[in-house]
Amino acid sequence: MSLVFRNFPKYLGCRLKECKVMEFTKAILVTGGAGFIGNHVIRLFSKKYPNYLLVNADALTYAGNLENLQDVEHASNYVFERLDITDEKGVAEVFGKYEISDVIHLAAESHVDRSIENPLEFLKTNVLGTGILLNQAKKSWGNVNGHKFYHVSTDEVYGSLGSIGLFTEETSYDPRSPYSASKASSDHLVRAYFHTFKLPIVISNCSNNYGPYQFPEKLIPLVINNIIKKKALPVYGDGTNVRDWLWVEDHATAIDTIFHHGKLGETYNIGGENELQNIELVRILCKIVDEKLGRPKGSAEKTITFVTDRKGHDQRYAIDASKIIGELGWKPSTQPIDGMAKTVEWYLKNTPWLEHVTSGDYQKYYEQQYKQSAK
Ligand code: NAD
Ligand code: TYD
Repeated sequence: MSLVFRNFPKYLGCRLKECKVMEFTKAILVTGGAGFIGNHVIRLFSKKYPNYLLVNADALTYAGNLENLQDVEHASNYVFERLDITDEKGVAEVFGKYEISDVIHLAAESHVDRSIENPLEFLKTNVLGTGILLNQAKKSWGNVNGHKFYHVSTDEVYGSLGSIGLFTEETSYDPRSPYSASKASSDHLVRAYFHTFKLPIVISNCSNNYGPYQFPEKLIPLVINNIIKKKALPVYGDGTNVRDWLWVEDHATAIDTIFHHGKLGETYNIGGENELQNIELVRILCKIVDEKLGRPKGSAEKTITFVTDRKGHDQRYAIDASKIIGELGWKPSTQPIDGMAKTVEWYLKNTPWLEHVTSGDYQKYYEQQYKQSAK
């Protein structure tokens, strides 16, 4: 029996041992699906919507890790395409091959410190890459209804808050790092395609995520990894900067809600109502990890080291999520203390994952797993 995507006749290959007739109602291009948030989105959609084909398009930069998707990779509604979104021809081919009906666009360079070191990489992927996807969606979909281009963005586009106030969807953009400036540019482009070409878009701007599979260059996994290894815990500046932390699976459910129920042309803020100063957060992590590893109280905290501040370090981010809560009925499911404990447990249980990621071994996985299709 051959694998037939009834609505997608151009895709005739069969990568399953036992092929079956598949009928998909949507073919969603999920860009950046091998990254931290992307793998949670793919996992949720793959399980919840067996009638959607999920095409994970990812360039597998240092931040993309297919080991994050080992539990999903054999699902009959999932395929992986190694694709750089700045490759116009490659993007066109993938749209054609699967008759892409929708896009959930997560692929980006996402680390502020790297954007300070190498801004142009961020402009290329985050701005040009988004432009190429928008252009292809416009070409492929024309004026036909029923499509959606969902752009996943960050609260960092709004700039930095003082000690009071929250970012709403009406807050003026004021990005201050090359990362946030590139994401702000991409948001503007997405809106421009809506207003100029009537491309059916929706945007969300989310606060800082935490949870399983986050690359240990970001604060929470970096601190957990360093505590495990008894290394110093670097806190930038005086540690009073505030972030609003959201459990990553709650971001995935928000994306599901907005993808299905968000109004075209609209923006939705997503946040955890969970503000913490960096130093408070690091102390919480120290306490949890020490307890779980049976180490003496206070041993991790002793290794906190205040280091030179990040250039242009934004003081505070905090989200007013009342629009998505009030209009679409979404709310975060996980309380911060439970979420931090679950996160620590996950990293402690998954030390081989941490080892692979910190040693670079995860980059061999693609070649091993996808030998035949490796480009
Ligand atoms: P990540 O860095 O973990 O993953 C990014 C993924 O994009 C990786 O798999 C990488 O290989 C891929 N990628 C990078 N450049 C690419 C290119 N040129 N072509 C194709 N793929 C490419 O990032 P993340 O934390 O999962 O963030 C995903 C999205 O969510 C980003 O757009 C980010 O701006 C946004 N966001 C993240 C957070 C957060 O706290 N992590 C919060 C709000 C919004
Ligand atoms: P990060 O996880 O890089 O996310 P973002 O910059 O997108 O908010 O950083 C979170 C906060 O933690 C930010 O205020 C910078 C700070 N930070 C440290 O103090 N030490 C570190 O080693 C890192 C990576 C971040």
